[in-house]
Amino acid sequence: MAKIPIIFSTITGNAFRLAEAAASVVPDSVGPYNIRYINDEVIERFDTFVLSYWCNHGTADDDTIALIRKMSGKNLIVIGTLGAARESRHAEEVCTRVEALASEHNRLLGHFLCRGSIDLNRTAQKLRIPEGEKGHLSQERFEKQKLSLGHPDAADLEAARTAVRGFLQNA
Ligand SMILES: Cc1cc2nc3c(=O)[nH]c(=O)nc-3n(C[C@H](O)[C@H](O)[C@H](O)COP(=O)(O)O)c2cc1C
Repeated sequence: MAKIPIIFSTITGNAFRLAEAAASVVPDSVGPYNIRYINDEVIERFDTFVLSYWCNHGTADDDTIALIRKMSGKNLIVIGTLGAARESRHAEEVCTRVEALASEHNRLLGHFLCRGSIDLNRTAQKLRIPEGEKGHLSQERFEKQKLSLGHPDAADLEAARTAVRGFLQNA
């Protein structure tokens, strides 16, 4: 079986943890590799990729978007984390956008999305921005963000492993 690289893009490590979980169930995986070091030569060398992203402003992060746009005719398994609840409408919208992107010029074998801890040290600074001004975060939304802590948890990682195994079996 041809080797499958696992590539992750992360700020705080959640996408790396997901990538590690995927690597444990992909028989001939290589990596996880940081997306920063993925060049054209790597893209050319493989047919199938696992891409682990973090959700940025309702879609995949910029580096993952740029990488997918460089690819054509590849088989992609895309996995990611977002701060919002997985059951939320926002999460469904993220799925729709990421799946459209990954299917445009490539074959999407499967997409898995789960919750990932939000960096509350970063968002807490937005509490100080006055209401009505750009970037303001309400205390109510900050309380909701706290629910992301601890994710991806053991159940999320197990769900990721199960999903990736299934995507490969159906490929
Ligand atoms: C700049 C920025 C934008 C974000 N945008 C969203 C978003 O639109 N929706 C969401 O649910 N989470 C959003 N998040 C939360 C991250 O997607 C989430 O915490 C993710 O698990 C981070 O993954 P990482 O640890 O691999 O960096 C954002 C985080 C940052 C830093």
